[in-house]
Amino acid sequence: MCGIVGIVSKKYNILPSLIDGLKNLEYRGYDSAGVAYFINNNLKIIKEKGTVKNLENKIDFKEKVNIGIAHTRWATHGNANKINAHPHNVNHITIVHNGIIENCNELKKDLKDYNYTFKSNTDTEIACAYLSYCYDQNKNIHMTIERFMDKVKGSYAIALLIDNDDKNIYLLKKESPLIIGLGKDTNYIASDITAILNYTNKYISLDDFQYAKVNYKDILVYNKSGDVLKKKINEYKSKNIVTGKAHYKHYMLKEIIEQKKVISNTIFPYLEKGIKSLLKLPNLTKYNQINIIGCGSAMHAGLVAKYLFREFTNTKCEVFLASEFRYQNNFLTTDTFNIFISQSGETADTLQAAKLIKEKKLDSLGIINAKESSITKVVDTSLYIEVGPEISVASTKAYSAQVAILALLVLSHGYRNKTISSKQTESIINEFKKINVFINKMSNKKDQYKMIAKKIYKEEHAFYIGRGLDYALCMEGSLKLKEVSYIHSEAYAAGELKHGAISLINKNMPVFSSATNDKLNSKTVSNLEEVISRGANVFLITDDKNLIDKSYETIIIPNVSIFLKGILVVIPYQLIAYYTAVLKGTNIDKPKNLAKSVTVE
Ligand code: M6R
Repeated sequence: MCGIVGIVSKKYNILPSLIDGLKNLEYRGYDSAGVAYFINNNLKIIKEKGTVKNLENKIDFKEKVNIGIAHTRWATHGNANKINAHPHNVNHITIVHNGIIENCNELKKDLKDYNYTFKSNTDTEIACAYLSYCYDQNKNIHMTIERFMDKVKGSYAIALLIDNDDKNIYLLKKESPLIIGLGKDTNYIASDITAILNYTNKYISLDDFQYAKVNYKDILVYNKSGDVLKKKINEYKSKNIVTGKAHYKHYMLKEIIEQKKVISNTIFPYLEKGIKSLLKLPNLTKYNQINIIGCGSAMHAGLVAKYLFREFTNTKCEVFLASEFRYQNNFLTTDTFNIFISQSGETADTLQAAKLIKEKKLDSLGIINAKESSITKVVDTSLYIEVGPEISVASTKAYSAQVAILALLVLSHGYRNKTISSKQTESIINEFKKINVFINKMSNKKDQYKMIAKKIYKEEHAFYIGRGLDYALCMEGSLKLKEVSYIHSEAYAAGELKHGAISLINKNMPVFSSATNDKLNSKTVSNLEEVISRGANVFLITDDKNLIDKSYETIIIPNVSIFLKGILVVIPYQLIAYYTAVLKGTNIDKPKNLAKSVTVE
């Protein structure tokens, strides 16, 4: 949550790039934005409520600026308003911050005793005041940062400017991501690489309790004790993924449509030489139970895998919400394997759960999109989904790629533990090799999705009902609809509805469902009959043409192995949610109250 960008350059006029970087980080928060820079040795701070566009309108781009820091906010402490917007300044120190200062009340009390006063309601201003207090004692930034790191609890990525030092940006990092991008006569800082990809793909990532001094020539990274560290320079390689919105009106649509390419990118290394390639995936046969941990769509991807592990490999699998995992007894033993799923690799709950597993010295794997992100540094190994930056707050391509790689992990496990034969394995691999064709087919049914969106966009409530794998997919479909269209929706196990929630079914209420399993389809259809007879408007996704019926709208998916069906069913759900949101005129890529990367617990 919250995005940080900074630039320090030999040349003037960094302001356009600073704003460009901030716009690329708006998915991390967009309730206010601000910038601080030096001009003729004087500090200037500009802040605005709302999106970066509002800030942009207040900036004089003719000013000759070569050092600055900027921020886009997702409010934690204090409302979304101009006063609470970052940067915050106290005496000589100006900062932008991502994270939460947990002992801010205690610090504030102490600082008040030293006559500090506060304008905002933010923890960031308190952090800034504490830095200022330490700096005023010794005028030594290294000692100031060391003292800050000793005293301050919580998470922080901070970019800092000091008055009378218009050559350097200082950085401090604990539990919130921060990278330094390397350019020619210019260096960049950012919460993540998306902010600066237009300028460089080379970067250093800071680890917890490291800090840095960055000017246009040099980058010095220190540990807390002030020793200079040698850091690896990473190179971000995107596999032919177009950054920016291209010709699409929204990132969400672009990201749904590009699934055909990016899912193939993700899984190709595990398919190209058939079973031999598949066996590059981790061997899980020594474990008794697989745990999958994540939040939101990532957790939903885990539910698809749970179904496949249990049904086809006879392996115990449990899925946990990361926010609950830390605070309950999970009966962890050395023969449980723990898979952490996260697009951003920064989700605080998932990160903390991964740390817990590390503390217990249990084996773990990350399924992650963002390279070098915090979770990748905690888990034993990571499998990367190669989908490129996902900008739309609603996850689409990351979810599908997570499902795809998990399905292959299950397949490799089934092959290894002999619950899936070589013949079946090869046939599923061959189908996966054609996934782009199947996805394309599903993306091309736009007219049908638009027609459905038109039927539902004025409704206030919707249900998603299904059984088995389809129930897991309903959860993702329902999340997509509520997230971008603001229509309240619930995902229910189809057989459970009649135990209470069916009382909510009213005339015309949309009920979505999928039926992709011959063993369960007739039962699901019976449940659909129950809601149709109470007035519901039903939309069914299935590969079984025998289920086409006049009493509901049917979307047909290709008849493929159940290992692929999760990916195909979710595409109509994503596009219907998208077109419904278009008709409702919501802020599709940045829905209200949300942020892409949830770095607070
Ligand atoms: O970055 P992560 O995959 O860890 O994020 C997890 C959730 O916050 C995320 O999937 C969220 O639910 C999306 N907005 C769903 O579209």
